[in-house]
Amino acid sequence: MEGQPRVVPGVVTRGPAIEIVVDGNPAKAHEGESVAAALLAAGRRTLRTTDRRGEPRGLYCGIGVCFDCVMTVDGRPGVRTCQTPVRDGMRVETQAGTGAWRVET
Ligand code: FES
Repeated sequence: MEGQPRVVPGVVTRGPAIEIVVDGNPAKAHEGESVAAALLAAGRRTLRTTDRRGEPRGLYCGIGVCFDCVMTVDGRPGVRTCQTPVRDGMRVETQAGTGAWRVET
């Protein structure tokens, strides 16, 4: 169900809306939530792909232990998105394998 919203209306109060950039595309998020939570709420399940087989991985433990949620954030690879709060204008990219450092210009 990639791309389907995962929000239960009326149950959780979200912070003010902000915008992040995910793989070059603008995406809505809310202050106070993690990158992984924002992407999950937007219906995105795949956050990285494995090094050898390119298999999809996504949010698993949600507490910073498994590293399945790592993405490249603002050019820095290997960021655990379940432990990283969103910030307006943040640039997030799907990470392939161990990723690569990217210098923002
Ligand atoms: S989901 Fe396990 S470290 Fe983020």
